[in-house]
Amino acid sequence: MGAGVTGGAPEALTIEELSQLCALLRRCTGMIFGEKKRYYLERRIAALMKTAGIADAGTYLLALANDPAERQKLINAVTVNETYFYREDRQFAALSERILPAIVQDRRPGDRVRIWSLPCSTGDECYSIAIWLLENWALVDAYLIEIVGSDIDTRALAAAREGRYGTRALSHLPESVRAAYFESEHRHERQIIQDLRESVGFTQANIVDRQSMRAAGRFDVILCRNLLIYFDEEGRRAAAENLYDALNPGGFLCLGHSESMARIDPRFTLVRLGDAIVYRRD
Ligand SMILES: C[S@@+](CC[C@H](N)C(=O)[O-])C[C@H]1O[C@@H](n2cnc3c(N)ncnc32)[C@H](O)[C@@H]1O
Repeated sequence: MGAGVTGGAPEALTIEELSQLCALLRRCTGMIFGEKKRYYLERRIAALMKTAGIADAGTYLLALANDPAERQKLINAVTVNETYFYREDRQFAALSERILPAIVQDRRPGDRVRIWSLPCSTGDECYSIAIWLLENWALVDAYLIEIVGSDIDTRALAAAREGRYGTRALSHLPESVRAAYFESEHRHERQIIQDLRESVGFTQANIVDRQSMRAAGRFDVILCRNLLIYFDEEGRRAAAENLYDALNPGGFLCLGHSESMARIDPRFTLVRLGDAIVYRRD
């Protein structure tokens, strides 16, 4: 990145520096960046280098290689955290009408049912699940529903634990739901009520890292939506392997509407549930 960071427009990474950076991001996150994302990456690392007091890209790449904290800052800076409440709500309807009834068929009242939102970004998806079930599933109190939210991005996880949301994130929620589950603090921000904040557990997990995935245990349902679009075929296969391991036999996997397990892992069976498409572990 040439001689230094001035705080204005970022200086260009050499082709070699860019390729080292992309290789590191792919290894650490599964996400694919390349020449097309050059400007995006250059802007983000310029800010990080300034904060770290590092003037040249070579030294910065060395710091990334040796310092996990510096790597985490980079990961937090390059992730795309776009999310909102009740996103793709057909799958929430499938959850309450078809998926959970199928899962509890051979459970007893009081048994645990585990649901994983991975990646959860700022928590909108986990709280959406909690609210949706409270509003739409009559048996919600009959079972011990455990909702876990995980993401690779520690900054997004901190925001998820705080549970404060702006108008845009809440725009798909009916006003009655906003009134029941959020406290108004400012005109443009509401915080999810304490009961709900405490009902969801948040932990860091990396979908391409087997160890961090195994640490979360096994789940009956996993929502892994709008993450695999950032991966290449190889990354998707690694993720699918870890998702398969993380599901109980017969467990369900929900992907984003433009994502698919077809051609990635034949051990998942496509199931149409009303308007929603989900996958089931053999
Ligand atoms: C676009 S958001 C999707 C959030 C939510 N699932 C939704 O659909 O609204 C993508 C999230 O994936 C996370 N992410 C990226 N790479 C990851 C990885 N290897 N493991 C876990 N999370 C990752 C990012 O930090 C980001 O929060």
